[in-house]
Amino acid sequence: MLTTRYLISSNDEPIGVFDSGVGGLSVLREIRSQLPTENLIYVADSGYAPYGNRSTSFIEERATAIAHFLLELRVKAMVVACNTVTVVAVKNLRSWSPVPIIAIEPAIKPAANITKSGIIGVLATTQTIASSSVSRLCQMYGSNIEVLLQPCPGLVEQVERAELTTVSTRLMVTNYVSPLLEKGADTIVLGCTHYPFLGQIIQEVAGADITIIDPAASVARELARQLNNHKISSISAASGTERFFTTGSVVHVQWVTSTLWGRQVTVDIVP
Ligand code: DGL
Repeated sequence: MLTTRYLISSNDEPIGVFDSGVGGLSVLREIRSQLPTENLIYVADSGYAPYGNRSTSFIEERATAIAHFLLELRVKAMVVACNTVTVVAVKNLRSWSPVPIIAIEPAIKPAANITKSGIIGVLATTQTIASSSVSRLCQMYGSNIEVLLQPCPGLVEQVERAELTTVSTRLMVTNYVSPLLEKGADTIVLGCTHYPFLGQIIQEVAGADITIIDPAASVARELARQLNNHKISSISAASGTERFFTTGSVVHVQWVTSTLWGRQVTVDIVP
């Protein structure tokens, strides 16, 4: 629904996207593919990652700081490309943000709709699994099925090091996915934006018959819908640009971002 409280933004202003680290690039790539003419700014809060076992006040403070940074860069909308931030802090961000906020959350609803065994697994950070938002999603959409919640400490760090196919990553994935399969899950939700970068290993460990759900494409569709509703979609015919920022080590984040993004990029420090 349209609200009138937002700033009047211009169509050529950028969209801000952020995560605790490089995981949100899995959302950024969907946005880039669905909205090719939008200018995008990505912030990896790598100096403070991972968020997954931090306190809620810490996560709220970080989300607020990054949102202020993006607003200084005059973004017309913000995308929370981090499930952990969504479940902990999005309500607060939305209460004061002068621009629309679109946020990813674990795709329990779509998984509940497609499971045939009636058992779904959710892979996410410890903080996300423990959140009241996930309990609420389970109550709303999981009442007729069994939802297996699997915290996955360590997986975010593997992606932050671009260890996508190493033996230790495969071992961790096996340890987290096998219990879900043993209990009969036929659908697995990637409830953390880092995990799509491990999608190949997760599918191999789970087997071809298991459906893996990544909600990134639906987040990009929701962003497009909201830009359209607020009449702030890009009207440019030129290809959009991407700018990358981090609070962590520029050298490392530039390397890992270039690896995951598939081409050499420049990363700047958040001042
Ligand atoms: N990509 C973040 C998420 O979706 C990871 C959070 C973390 O840093 O632990 O939850």
